[in-house]
Amino acid sequence: MKVLAYGVRGDEQPYLDQWAQQTGDTLVTTSSYLSAATLTQPADGISCFQTVPYAPSVFAQMQRLGIRYLALRNTGTDNVDFEAAVHYGIRVSNVPAYSPAAIAEFALLDMLYLLRQTGAVQAALHANDYAGAGTHIGRELGESTVGVIGTGRIGQALIRILNGFGAKVLAFDPHPPTDPSLVYTPVTFATLLQHSDIVSLHVPGIPANHHLIDAAALAQMKPGALLINTGRPNLLDTPAVLASLAKGRLGGVGIDTYENETSDLLALANRGHFNDPQWQALLALPNVILSPHIAYYTQTAVRNMVEQSLTNLQSFLAGVPCAAEITATDA
Ligand code: NAD
Ligand code: COI
Repeated sequence: MKVLAYGVRGDEQPYLDQWAQQTGDTLVTTSSYLSAATLTQPADGISCFQTVPYAPSVFAQMQRLGIRYLALRNTGTDNVDFEAAVHYGIRVSNVPAYSPAAIAEFALLDMLYLLRQTGAVQAALHANDYAGAGTHIGRELGESTVGVIGTGRIGQALIRILNGFGAKVLAFDPHPPTDPSLVYTPVTFATLLQHSDIVSLHVPGIPANHHLIDAAALAQMKPGALLINTGRPNLLDTPAVLASLAKGRLGGVGIDTYENETSDLLALANRGHFNDPQWQALLALPNVILSPHIAYYTQTAVRNMVEQSLTNLQSFLAGVPCAAEITATDA
């Protein structure tokens, strides 16, 4: 098959090369985003990775070029216009679980960073205040109550990690897991907010979850509680989070999926920089840890993302059922 691979980074290239060598498939790779303007040649399918939108014009262009399959190399599909995909006869797949552990471990990283006041310690050291750096007393994860919102693949991986640390785990999910080896207490959303020292989000960015954590939810959380979002950009009402931090109500925040990431990324691509005062305000706080949507970013995950997306294209082309086919935003 001939595949156009968009959004390719250097770390993905070896896995793509390996695939081409093993299968004889033709892979045309580019680091560009997929857009109507960058899609200029026919192919059997597209493998793509980007957090910026897949707009109707992309699907229209795919139809014009006779390309019927779009295989995302990631999980989330909230940037896909499925109505347009269906309209233009394009079938879409994702990689539902390339490494749940990668994201769960990253949520843990944020928790430990905030519990041990690492930002304040680093800031003091950078200010040549060695003595001051030693005054930021920490809290222990094993003595904390952690609220896990969303107990799908990543939420469950996190619960297992937290069980290992001896933390008390509360969890909320309308579809709770059945694995008896997970140690946690199922609770309501309100109970979880009221009793957790740390709240970690692992739910999809579906419209119903937009600003799941807003001012009202923040007001229910324990004073000094920590909030971690490695889920989706739209889950947090960021101005409300900033206001709560300013009041000293929230103890700290970890954000890997930042609310304005799409517009900031587009600004970065178009102008070479972005100017986002809200991002700067968060970045300036020692009790905030930001990352550029990299919770997934491990060697294991990248290999699985590449291989699974190409396997999905193979299934589409062979006419066999593709378990990872997606027809509506649900991740
Ligand atoms: P999943 O589909 O396995 O699980 C999601 C769970 O959330 C489901 O069990 C569902 O019932 C539950 N849920 C939905 N809305 C809820 C709500 N309002 N309250 C409580 N539970 C709710 O998904 P997953 O693979 O565990 O992924 C979780 C999130 O992490 C997704 O949004 C995914 O896109 C995101 N993700 C982030 C990264 C990253 O790099 N930061 C990487 C991969 C995935
Ligand atoms: C996903 O796979 O959904 C992610 O959030 C990671 C990627 C888009 C950066």
